[in-house]
Amino acid sequence: MEALKGVRILDMTHVQAGPTCSQLLAWMGADVIKFENPQGDATRGQLRDVPNADSLYFTMLNCNKRSITVNMKSAEGKQVFVDLLKKCDIVMENFGPGVLDRFGFSWEEIHRVNPKIVMGSIKGFGSTGPYAEFKAYENVAQAMGGAMSTTGIPDGPPFVTGAQIGDSGTGLHLAIGLLAALRQAERTGQGQYVEVAMMDGVMNLCRVKFRDHQRLTRGDMPEYSVPTYKDMGDVPRAGNDSGGGQLGNAIHCKPHGANDWLYIVVQEAVWVALARRIGPDIHIPDLATDPRFATIGERRKNQQLMWTLINKFAENYTKRELMAILNPIDVPCGPIMSTSDLATDEHVRGRDMYVELDHPQRGKWFNVGMPIKLSASPAKIERSPLLGEHTDEVLKSVLGYDEAKISAMKSAGAFAAPPKKAA
Ligand SMILES: CC(C)(COP(=O)(O)OP(=O)(O)OC[C@H]1O[C@@H](n2cnc3c(N)ncnc32)[C@H](O)[C@@H]1OP(=O)(O)O)[C@@H](O)C(=O)NCCC(=O)NCCS
Repeated sequence: MEALKGVRILDMTHVQAGPTCSQLLAWMGADVIKFENPQGDATRGQLRDVPNADSLYFTMLNCNKRSITVNMKSAEGKQVFVDLLKKCDIVMENFGPGVLDRFGFSWEEIHRVNPKIVMGSIKGFGSTGPYAEFKAYENVAQAMGGAMSTTGIPDGPPFVTGAQIGDSGTGLHLAIGLLAALRQAERTGQGQYVEVAMMDGVMNLCRVKFRDHQRLTRGDMPEYSVPTYKDMGDVPRAGNDSGGGQLGNAIHCKPHGANDWLYIVVQEAVWVALARRIGPDIHIPDLATDPRFATIGERRKNQQLMWTLINKFAENYTKRELMAILNPIDVPCGPIMSTSDLATDEHVRGRDMYVELDHPQRGKWFNVGMPIKLSASPAKIERSPLLGEHTDEVLKSVLGYDEAKISAMKSAGAFAAPPKKAA
């Protein structure tokens, strides 16, 4: 964990989009100080599965951080914030629009306090434009960034995807921006404001759909299995089509349960080998030379039939058996892995992608591991902090406060819950 050693982050983020970014930076060695509202990140109590314990929602997104609680609605709390700003390289937040301004800390003020600090900010729609004032959650971003309108089947409703592209995807974008700005700050001594809007991040991840949006002005798109035609306007939902230059689809396998599927890409180069393997079993021994599938153009035109034939072959095999047949002939394919498939998979465990941790309130639990593998700085995953677990430690070791000062600030309400708003 050496890559970001010496980088200190003042992490005001909450829920998922921001914490997923700061957790990655912590796994790369940054000292991440989670600066929490005295009531704590709301996710500590959301979807709780163990009474009185931090929820998995929180523990899975906040590993390797230190937690300090500070009441930003008190003068003393704001002083702690200012003191920490001076000691940190990055400050990051994903509050709703205007929250930091209401605390009295615009980017201009933060930059004035520490000109070198880099500030990361996630908003649903950014700080400019007609949508700037709106709050956002994962599926709002998926809806507005183009993911939902292009996911599903043409006659069905739009669908959200299980991958958290709005929240965790935005966190990834922010991490990239922060590291670039940090590099520049090291060179110039000047920090900058790094903003990622969730809607923008989803659009970035839907980039190929905007490729197709423009292609539709010139003609149909033969690789789509659903009808497309010139000037149809919107890119249609296309089920499990590959969405790329090669044809692909999910094939149903034995015993035909919910996740008994294998995703197959009929790459141009493998057609002949694939057709030779499946042809005899489905009573079309000449499939490899059948003119209906001889070129990729023909296969695109006749892809519904091609998928029907491959599905017929698959009827006799489980997804793992089919994978074992197709991998040796170089057909790119992957079984649809359920969460339990993944939680018990030897490959996944071997790559430290499902790791067991201990927690004082909840005992043993699992986290998804660090997907970015640095050869000289492997991540060492440690449990998430309890609420305010490191308040005194940070005040002493980072800010140099003594016991008397800490106790005076405590009495003044710097670390306690702000009074509730009148109804
Ligand atoms: C996620 C989101 C919708 C949650 O909305 P919310 O629960 O109303 O929370 P907000 O961020 O708007 O507000 C946080 C409140 O906590 C208060 N608060 C936060 N930290 C505090 C602290 N340390 N001390 C005192 N008060 C604190 C803020 O002052 C604010 O209260 P206010 O409205 O009275 O000013 C919103 O934060 C948002 O749109 N964020 C940007 C987009 C995003 O990241 N969404 C994805 C989440 S995974």
